[in-house]
Amino acid sequence: MTELGEPRRVGVVCFDLYGTLVDLAPLDVACEALAPRRGGPLAARWRARQLEASWLRTAMDRWADFELVTREALDVACAEFGVDPDPEAREATRRAFLELPPLAGAVEGVADLGRAGLRLAVLSNGSAAMIEASVRSAGLDGWFEALLSADAARAYKPHPAVYQLAVDRFGWAPERIGFVTANGWDAAGAAAHGFAVAWLRPPGAVLPAVPASIAGEASWATVPRQFAPG
Ligand code: LAC
Repeated sequence: MTELGEPRRVGVVCFDLYGTLVDLAPLDVACEALAPRRGGPLAARWRARQLEASWLRTAMDRWADFELVTREALDVACAEFGVDPDPEAREATRRAFLELPPLAGAVEGVADLGRAGLRLAVLSNGSAAMIEASVRSAGLDGWFEALLSADAARAYKPHPAVYQLAVDRFGWAPERIGFVTANGWDAAGAAAHGFAVAWLRPPGAVLPAVPASIAGEASWATVPRQFAPG
């Protein structure tokens, strides 16, 4: 994997949302209210159960949108932690998911790509309403030509049907679609679908053991130099 080669010529750049454009760290604080002194571990478990449920539902062909998946995952994580918050406390914690701030560098990186003339879109497992709320709360309004939700595929990334939404929406071959994500499983899924992936690799993260290789590794500082229009 190279940090920076020639920019890849693409017709559109799509972004993952959670952990890529928006910062999940405030969930630790929100979860403190449910499990004092264990907010961080509870938030991590919530997120793990959320992803797991999305993949299980996809494998089982039992679709439910990401709002329900997120709610049920919080309930499971609370049960595992032996806490039983009242409905208002659960609701307040879930709302934190809709009010996440941007990750450091994300607003500037998106703006740089937009100013370079690239078409931009979000491609997320979030429901349409969740994506809209996050884009607004992160101050990213106005940069994206499309907010593509897994809702339309009734499956979750890394199922190919979700990446295909971007192919169908923009009409470019997969290799002309740039894709930015911090999630290794998502980077692998997008690469397997043929996208030009820039992986915002968290320190120490390794790709899952699946057949996919990633050509571009990036940070928010280098993302704008990874893609050029054309
Ligand atoms: C997304 C997640 C799940 O698709 O990171 O935005």
